[in-house]
Amino acid sequence: MSNFKRTLVTTALPYANGPVHVGHLAGVYVPADIYVRYLRMKGEDVLHIGGSDEHGVPITLKARKEGVTPQDIVDKYHNLIKDSFEKFGISFDIYSRTTSEMHHKTASEFFKKLYDKGAFMEKETDQYYDEEARQFLADRYITGTCPHCNSTGAYGDQCESCGTSLNATDLVNPKSMISGSIPVMRKTKHWYLPLDQHQKFLEKWILEEHKEWKPNVYGQCKSWLDLGLQPRAVSRDLDWGVPVPVEGGEGKVLYVWFDAPIGYISATRELTPDWEKYWKDPETRLIHFIGKDNIVFHCIVFPSMLKSEGSFNLPDNVPANEFLNLEGDKISTSRNWAVWLHEYLVDFKDKQDVLRYVLTANAPETKDNDFTWRDFQARNNNELVAILGNFVNRAVVLTHKYYDGQVPLIGETEPFDVETLEEIPALVNRIEKSLDAFKFREAVREAMNLARLGNKYLADTEPWKLQKTNPERVKTIMNIALQITANLALVMEPFLPFTARKMRDMLDMEDLSWDRCGKTELLKPAHKINEAKLLFDKIEDAQIQEQLDRLAKTKNSNEAENKEAAPAKADISFDDFTKMDIRVGTILEAEKVAKTKKLLKIKVDTGIDKRTVVSGIAEFFEPEDIIGRQVSILVNLAVRKIKGIESQGMILMAEDADGRLDFVAPGTRIKPGSEVR
Ligand code: MF3
Ligand code: ZN
Repeated sequence: MSNFKRTLVTTALPYANGPVHVGHLAGVYVPADIYVRYLRMKGEDVLHIGGSDEHGVPITLKARKEGVTPQDIVDKYHNLIKDSFEKFGISFDIYSRTTSEMHHKTASEFFKKLYDKGAFMEKETDQYYDEEARQFLADRYITGTCPHCNSTGAYGDQCESCGTSLNATDLVNPKSMISGSIPVMRKTKHWYLPLDQHQKFLEKWILEEHKEWKPNVYGQCKSWLDLGLQPRAVSRDLDWGVPVPVEGGEGKVLYVWFDAPIGYISATRELTPDWEKYWKDPETRLIHFIGKDNIVFHCIVFPSMLKSEGSFNLPDNVPANEFLNLEGDKISTSRNWAVWLHEYLVDFKDKQDVLRYVLTANAPETKDNDFTWRDFQARNNNELVAILGNFVNRAVVLTHKYYDGQVPLIGETEPFDVETLEEIPALVNRIEKSLDAFKFREAVREAMNLARLGNKYLADTEPWKLQKTNPERVKTIMNIALQITANLALVMEPFLPFTARKMRDMLDMEDLSWDRCGKTELLKPAHKINEAKLLFDKIEDAQIQEQLDRLAKTKNSNEAENKEAAPAKADISFDDFTKMDIRVGTILEAEKVAKTKKLLKIKVDTGIDKRTVVSGIAEFFEPEDIIGRQVSILVNLAVRKIKGIESQGMILMAEDADGRLDFVAPGTRIKPGSEVR
């Protein structure tokens, strides 16, 4: 590390087609932020580059579905994402976007340079073309029947039912999602990055020269390389993206995975005229923070692009993380199975550090991990409140109580407590080692151990019992406790920036440099500290239950949606159907049937008469809520006695696969007695 003069940190550009969630934060943005804050404290020259990934087919599909332009979609989510990151204290030097002018220019120039150098292969292939919409169809724009599992609605690149990845030409009965017409085959030309030609170089560069990469990253690269690399198309027939800037490129754009990583370069260029120093000087190291699904693009594709270009550095490290699950299930935007950051910020106001802490302490660094609300609560209550908050509070409160807020001079006693004093630099050392190795869970654990050390020290020495009998001894204890507190105010900065800020305010500390960590005279005798402020508070069961209930609801509605409809019953004749006399009625009265859970006794105005019906809907409707509602009622059903009540007819209900009931009712008010047929 010492042979580098500066560091360029990039974080994966999230797609601007949805908000960001805890998985994003845990896998990429929190670890990167911890790392850059640490480097900044060390006085290193570091830039943190981020932005939104605003091209690609899914964004155009979402726009089409919502009847807006792709630009509308990315504007909306770019701003939402940017705001969430800012509120969580993710300290970007720039958060840009790939629809920016600078990016289009940079990506275009990059492509042109590779083209001029002959770094691409050109190939003509047959692709589906929509004659009605007059455009070639990206794989995601074609649906059809999966040749493997026969389910309809498979996409041209994948069947989401059975997970098989497909070519558009594999689909049975292909259909254009744009016009609905049947696509035809047409020839089209594209540019390919011949990864096979970079195979030898990549093998040496990764497998031999970067054995220090995390095992999950190294392992994934090795299996790609072992399979043998194939040329990859870097252009698409699409009108949303960076236009292909060479002859024959009309109507084509750069493939989103070609332009997106160049976004790191564009954003740096937007940030500083000195950008080349950060990308091309061999004394700069480049570090990509990403999730595991991005490994191949950052370790194989982008480096091949950079290498072909010739003047750029290759990444020094790619500390990719595995995935974070939520309550045992894979996080999914389409199934709404996520904790959205913008919602968390409302539900847990001013608790950004709590989430940062939990996601770091439980980071999916070496394997997939699970986020659970119970663990979130436990870590807040048992660790942040009980250990860190409690220790800092005691140290500050006692200093005010005994010394009017002034740091006491070490007492005139023999050298007490050497072990505790020595443990401080030792812990700092371990934090540093872990941070340098991108082991953030370990680092935050050691940082918490410093608070544990402080707590144990106060519990062992019990200054509150000695103040009367041995005040000199208490001065020593409190001085040491305050030095531990001051160290915490420094080492917690990368992990818990909002809390560390509060601690420094309390202690009236300004200097934030890392080289002060581990020192045992950070606070000089007679230095005056400020009043204690609460750092964390307990999270109650009710708040957690609210989150769990919300997830349970999501799960139920997802399950109901996935359940297949019951098969059709045997045919009946039209006469059979017309035997049923169904009318629109209005509910006049409703009450629970005593000693039953499910039954309501309902009085209905059928237009013909006013009659009583017993209906099994009490679990879904409160009697007072349904008065005045219109319903469909089968009026010529033979009278039945239910719980001693004569039920004259049946109110028709729709029931989903989960047994949830709702009325079958006219869409607008209609006269009671109107016939349903
Ligand atoms: N948008 C991609 C994703 O969310 C990540 C792009 S990273 C970059 O998976 F390299 F393209 F910038
Ligand atoms: Zn399938």
